[in-house]
Amino acid sequence: MSVLRLSGLSAGYGEVDIVSGIEMHVNDREIVTIAGTNGAGKSTLIKAVMGLLPRLSGSIDFEGKQLVGTPPERRVGEGIAYVPQVRNVFGSLTVLENLQVVEHVKRLPERIREMFDLFPALAERRKTNAENLSGGERQQLAFARALMSSPRLMLLDEPSAALSPGLTEQVFGEVRKLPLLGVAVLMVEQRARQALAFSDRGYILDQGRIVLTDTGQNLLSNKNMADLYIGRGRKAETPHPQGVDS
Ligand SMILES: Nc1ncnc2c1ncn2[C@@H]1O[C@H](COP(=O)(O)OP(=O)(O)O)[C@@H](O)[C@H]1O
Ligand SMILES: [Mg+2]
Repeated sequence: MSVLRLSGLSAGYGEVDIVSGIEMHVNDREIVTIAGTNGAGKSTLIKAVMGLLPRLSGSIDFEGKQLVGTPPERRVGEGIAYVPQVRNVFGSLTVLENLQVVEHVKRLPERIREMFDLFPALAERRKTNAENLSGGERQQLAFARALMSSPRLMLLDEPSAALSPGLTEQVFGEVRKLPLLGVAVLMVEQRARQALAFSDRGYILDQGRIVLTDTGQNLLSNKNMADLYIGRGRKAETPHPQGVDS
């Protein structure tokens, strides 16, 4: 059963469509990765699902409900969580405060305890300001914040951005646990080779359009695609600088 289904989705910031004719779905407890070159429209597509684009047409079906026209805040209430690439925690608030300020949470203290069980490193750092966390801890906090509202779908925009290879492995480990918590994942990743290796399915985006979709494994073994969009072997694993998109 699909949690999310996009049909004929087009969206942009102004007159011009940045993504267009998008047909995409995410099934229950699936991990789905969107790959593609820089500027292909990956972040734009994620933002469109969250309702953050000024112009949008087509359909966004989330668990049988039509979301086009629903404001972002209400989408959180419906069960979608979004972890942006940057500015995904409040640096001047402590770990605990970052969890306390999340809206749409039922039984807040209990949910915070559950997050600390899930991320023991955060429990130890509960009184630390988020700006003083390591990159990996900060990403854990961003995940915990997103999970507070008990979402059915998590939208992740480059969760490994600006992380070392070691921390990337750690964060990908957290992503892989999400389906076990009943959460489906739609993720954009620059480290596409690594991400597709544990994704159920993937979509390749080029200039705002989907040019290919298949299982993660099939995309990885598709030689032309791998060279063009996924990056070869080790090259894809080198760290890349933090993106500038918000
Ligand atoms: N806030 C914005 N206003 C106008 N154009 C934007 C904005 N953000 C991104 N774009 C444009 O949309 C295109 C796709 O960007 P983006 O979705 O960030 O690509 P990706 O995430 O695949 O690198 C780019 O041409 C970019 O310049
Ligand atoms: Mg992006």
